[in-house]
Amino acid sequence: MTIAVHESALIRHFNTRRETLRAWEERIGARFSPFRGFKMPDSRLYCEHPDFLDSIVDLIITNERHIFLRGPVGSGKSTLMLLALRDLPTLADRRGNKFITGYVGMTGLYEKQMAAAIADSLRVKYRRSWESSQIIEAVARECVRRYVEEHCRTALFIEDVADNQEAAFHKLRYLADLPTEEMKEEYGGALDEPVVTLIMSGTMMYWNAMLSFLPQIADRTEPLDVPPFDDAKAKEFIGRRLAYARGEIDSFDPNDFDIYPFEEEAIEIINAAARGNPRDIRMLARGCQQVAAERLKETGDPSITVEIATLVVDAYSALLKEVQ
Ligand SMILES: Nc1ncnc2c1ncn2[C@@H]1O[C@H](COP(=O)(O)OP(=O)(O)OP(=O)(O)O)[C@@H](O)[C@H]1O
Ligand SMILES: [Mg+2]
Repeated sequence: MTIAVHESALIRHFNTRRETLRAWEERIGARFSPFRGFKMPDSRLYCEHPDFLDSIVDLIITNERHIFLRGPVGSGKSTLMLLALRDLPTLADRRGNKFITGYVGMTGLYEKQMAAAIADSLRVKYRRSWESSQIIEAVARECVRRYVEEHCRTALFIEDVADNQEAAFHKLRYLADLPTEEMKEEYGGALDEPVVTLIMSGTMMYWNAMLSFLPQIADRTEPLDVPPFDDAKAKEFIGRRLAYARGEIDSFDPNDFDIYPFEEEAIEIINAAARGNPRDIRMLARGCQQVAAERLKETGDPSITVEIATLVVDAYSALLKEVQ
């Protein structure tokens, strides 16, 4: 017996669309869409902001303030954190202390989840049955011990910090304020500076919330605005993704790369509309790919021209206006 499956109009539409996109990808030598979203982006796709990264690392090294990486959704906060995380273990501060790093990428955490996530990220042992304050106390003790005995400071990265429960936030405050007065007494002169540096991320709105609700931390935290991509970075962003999709990322040269089939000015139009936000650049580039793929069918030309970019950018801005 056979079961007849009727291809619905919708499925037919999606299949045609997929074939159209696929033809464009094949034509430019790509194995998949250069602008698809990756759950775990490959670090070879990252465009570096060396100066900005240095300013983050410098602040951590001087140990005067905590850091709040501030920027709109999709501006690259998480990416910058990963880059800073990569560099820190290879560095030492002026006193010769090295760094132990921890990264908490989950959000929406309750007090105990936050305590456990911090302990896990810093490889501090605790018992499941412990209360959150006991877990944090164990973390605090271990951070102090690592500082005194191993000459290691702790750099703790917390993503989208304000998306956690308020009680979870107070756990962070305890770590941010270490060492406590009692610890200082206990260790004599060996503890004369903060041992934990927090590197948090969030939007402007959350920074403002922190200013009003947690001034104790905010006052000792430096907000750093993630710089938007300039046109050169936007071209590199697209160039890297094209090379990646072509299987040529390992020979990518940031000073000499191909942006075919993009016209240079088309990327400038995209970047202006995205206001230098990489997530939006990717979305707009994907929109351009769709239009260019349709054009390829009609004309045989896969180019992403100024005209296509303008079309896509206008369509998106009309859409955004409607949503707002
Ligand atoms: N420097 C960069 N080079 C290449 N791609 C980047 C860079 N920064 C960000 N991206 C890409 O842009 C997208 C958004 O970046 P990311 O997730 O880091 O932003 P975010 O500010 O953390 O966003 P959210 O507010 O959603 O957490 C991702 O696809 C990421 O790979
Ligand atoms: Mg993020």
